[in-house]
Amino acid sequence: MSPPETEAGTLRVSDLHVSYGRSVQALHGVSLTVPQGRIVAVLGSNGAGKSTLLRAVSGTLALHRGTVDSGTVHFDGVRLRGDATRSVAAGVVQVPEGRRIFGALSVEDNLKAGFLGSARRSRAELRADRDRVFTQFPVLAERRRQAAGLMSGGEQQMLAMGRALMAGPRLLLLDEPSLGLAPLMVRRIAEIIREINAQGTSILLVEQNAAMALELSDRASVLDVGQVRLEGASADLAAADEVRRLYLGESYGTGCGAPDADAPYATSASTPAVTGPGLTELGRWNG
Ligand SMILES: Nc1ncnc2c1ncn2[C@@H]1O[C@H](COP(=O)(O)OP(=O)(O)OP(=O)(O)O)[C@@H](O)[C@H]1O
Ligand SMILES: [Mg+2]
Repeated sequence: MSPPETEAGTLRVSDLHVSYGRSVQALHGVSLTVPQGRIVAVLGSNGAGKSTLLRAVSGTLALHRGTVDSGTVHFDGVRLRGDATRSVAAGVVQVPEGRRIFGALSVEDNLKAGFLGSARRSRAELRADRDRVFTQFPVLAERRRQAAGLMSGGEQQMLAMGRALMAGPRLLLLDEPSLGLAPLMVRRIAEIIREINAQGTSILLVEQNAAMALELSDRASVLDVGQVRLEGASADLAAADEVRRLYLGESYGTGCGAPDADAPYATSASTPAVTGPGLTELGRWNG
């Protein structure tokens, strides 16, 4: 039975509670939606629960000894129950924090590894997917026989994204793709995210680089200590005083339009929790 039209290709996270072991409660009732074809961003400081949220969606929590205590994750109208293989088969694919490429393997073998979890199996499909990734990331074609660990951080990020694309995602989960990259490379990664989305893949983008994330996304949520503090259209969040002060830093310029070319996607030095007055005009997800 096909899902109702409004749920087709939609990710719906509802009231998710996640813990690690007995003592660490990482998410306290997080809800968010990624409609088909959209880019939704999740912002938040260190330890806010951003990666935990993506792990819960991709079914990789168990690898980190985490468990979903309550709440649900649905994609395309089907409940995902924390099984990574099923999530990938459903078209939900994660690019983990820190890239996690296989450094000793060649670029090409890393890409092949991405194909393993997908529903498509023939050699012809593998080649077609690989060639598509090579077209999108020419540097990966140039380095195809090189050990992946020898590439730069930005190139490794491209490989991690290329590997995820090999699984044919309908929804791509990106965990801090800009982390540790120089500004020009951050801009290139942002362009690639836009291209991938334009080709029809929905994106849930976790970032500490709020300027980049708000420019790319349609909507965004701000996570703070495991809860959604703010949710709204990205343009509204980018214009909100508190978000500008706490997450965008001084050099961001005029809202979510075009950041200063010399300081693309500048982040503030620290990203403290969002609290206090001044935020009530923005929609809060949890009432
Ligand atoms: N494997 C784990 N075992 C125990 N606690 C964990 C584990 N992973 C994360 N946590 C805890 O869960 C909370 C949320 O962590 P998470 O990694 O999701 O945050 P984050 O927003 O991704 O942070 P960062 O920006 O630093 O990547 C933190 O308190 C963290 O210490
Ligand atoms: Mg993280």
